[in-house]
Amino acid sequence: MAHDHDQPARDLALELVRATEVAALASGRWMGRNEKESGDGAAVDAMRQALHDVTMDGVVVIGEGEKDEAPMLFNGEHVGTGEQPEVDIAVDPVEGTRLLAEGRQGATSLIAAAPRGTMFDPGPMVYMMKYVVSGEAGDVVDVDAPIKENLQRIAKALGKGVNDVSVIMLDRPRHHEMMAEVREVGARLRLITDGDSPAGLLAAMPEYPYDVVLGIGGTPEGVATACAVRALRGNIVGRLWARDDEERAKARELGYDLDEVLTMDRLVSSENTFYSITGIITGDLVQGVAYGPQGATTESIVMRGRSGTVRWIRTRHRPEKLARYHADAQR
Ligand code: FBP
Repeated sequence: MAHDHDQPARDLALELVRATEVAALASGRWMGRNEKESGDGAAVDAMRQALHDVTMDGVVVIGEGEKDEAPMLFNGEHVGTGEQPEVDIAVDPVEGTRLLAEGRQGATSLIAAAPRGTMFDPGPMVYMMKYVVSGEAGDVVDVDAPIKENLQRIAKALGKGVNDVSVIMLDRPRHHEMMAEVREVGARLRLITDGDSPAGLLAAMPEYPYDVVLGIGGTPEGVATACAVRALRGNIVGRLWARDDEERAKARELGYDLDEVLTMDRLVSSENTFYSITGIITGDLVQGVAYGPQGATTESIVMRGRSGTVRWIRTRHRPEKLARYHADAQR
């Protein structure tokens, strides 16, 4: 019998994968159609429908904006059957909406859950600076230290030369200086156009040839990634990043401390986290949706913080189910 401190129980992980699978199935139809909103909308509708049947009393704390911006899964929205356990939910029905619209590799659908009240609420703070690393380099990063120093420390912890360290970074003008620092120290640099939550998994998992995610990306993605990194026994550390003085002033007014170091514990304070990610378009992490006469296949990775179990799930979906979500996508 499950004890209270085990709530939510382990079954939740496999319930959540259904939600990311259907979101991927529905939105995969929009690959390369250059319609960002339609792709996202299809994923949101499918995910919402799937979450409806999950046994939980979930509140979306990391969603896609406010209620009046429908059809988003909005912050504060209740999801699930309303029965125990009480959980915080972070959703990104399409992580990489541009990747999907432009038909580029690496678009995914993801969801994370943790006990109620344990996820950091970023409010209107869009960006955070972050480092994501694997367990071996778990506590060597100091966000105040120069990048060069951190990469050298990470290299040492991983037992390799800094030239062998692979860094993933979003390709953004705001990162030009950081790119120069990475190059200067001699580390390898992989630039991605979008999707720093799946990139965090690539850095934290031993199965993939990357070591660090570094740079300024979404704060919501940071919270969701923290749920995964917990299960992977890796680490994430960072700090909120304001774009300009106006945002800085607003953050202070709302009580956010821009100097605070956001540790993994601060981003999600429980170890009982759940995370599921399904590929929409094939990328480094997972295969995308493949449609065929027999239905469709998806690939997902599902993990649970408490046990540290990580599952790769390849699923075959019958044409009937597909037709249902395709019909939704056509609306
Ligand atoms: P969306 O899923 O909202 O499209 O976000 C994609 C993404 O690349 C995230 O992975 C990343 O954290 C964020 O955007 C970076 O923001 P920006 O594109 O403004 O630099």
